[in-house]
Amino acid sequence: MQPILVILQKTTAFFQQKEIADARLEAELLLAHTLGLKRLDLYLQFERLLSDAELGALRPLVARRAKREPLQFLLGEQDFLDLKLKCDRRALIPRPETEELVTLLTERLTKSPPGSILDLGTGTGAIAFSLAKAFPEAAVTAVDASPDALSLARENADTHGLAERVSFVESNWLAALAGQRFDLIVSNPPYLTEAEWEVAQPEVKDWEPKSALTAGADGLDDLRVILAEAKAHLNPGGLLACETGITQHDTLRDLAESHGYESSESIEDMSGKARFFQAQTRSV
Ligand SMILES: C[S@@+](CC[C@H](N)C(=O)[O-])C[C@H]1O[C@@H](n2cnc3c(N)ncnc32)[C@H](O)[C@@H]1O
Repeated sequence: MQPILVILQKTTAFFQQKEIADARLEAELLLAHTLGLKRLDLYLQFERLLSDAELGALRPLVARRAKREPLQFLLGEQDFLDLKLKCDRRALIPRPETEELVTLLTERLTKSPPGSILDLGTGTGAIAFSLAKAFPEAAVTAVDASPDALSLARENADTHGLAERVSFVESNWLAALAGQRFDLIVSNPPYLTEAEWEVAQPEVKDWEPKSALTAGADGLDDLRVILAEAKAHLNPGGLLACETGITQHDTLRDLAESHGYESSESIEDMSGKARFFQAQTRSV
């Protein structure tokens, strides 16, 4: 039997060998998860000896992480703003940039809250659910082309008591939404180029759905469709807001203009990169 501190040290060294960046933090998170403790509680129990059963539960998780399976799949969840979302191979793990997009929108729209919101490519449901909470009067629709992603999003909606607030639609972008209009259409679509995907970390390349990540040679295949289709589904003065690649905004501005949006705007993320793109239709 070995104490917590020694197990943490050994797991950290093993993760470092496997080139896992935050080796100590991840060792702590996996051990805390296995023991049903908060991570910081481990620090109060460094001398506690782990039982064979506890070690037996930890070992397979460590082995999976060493194969670069994402930590979130092992913990089964990811925090997204105020929500804890179930995560597994069915959908992309929500990212911090997307939290920024939601925060940006809630700040921007707080004085004139949208009555109807569409989340295109909902994945776990991260954007749809956060916006449903931020705008309690809004009717929210969440679309994905992947039945797997939609099944995970529905589970998350149930967990958070949002099943009555959010309608789920399986659709190739807006194809199944004929005649429906929204005040806000938001999307974090696939936007990586093939070249970017090729050099992505194993956690992304080997474990997350490629269909959630890549969009053709220049990463713009899906954004082109979304910009083209969304305009007819926005109410007057409606807003399309997307997360994008950081080199795509010149093209996106041209596309917005050619599709007849009244205005468009590039917005930087916290690291100063042009990460978000908004286009607005004419009021009245
Ligand atoms: C980058 S992920 C975003 C997931 C989630 N919104 C988030 O931010 O974490 C893109 C999502 O778009 C979905 N998607 C890809 N192609 C689509 C299409 N043609 N129509 C609808 N959804 C699509 C994928 O299944 C995936 O869930």
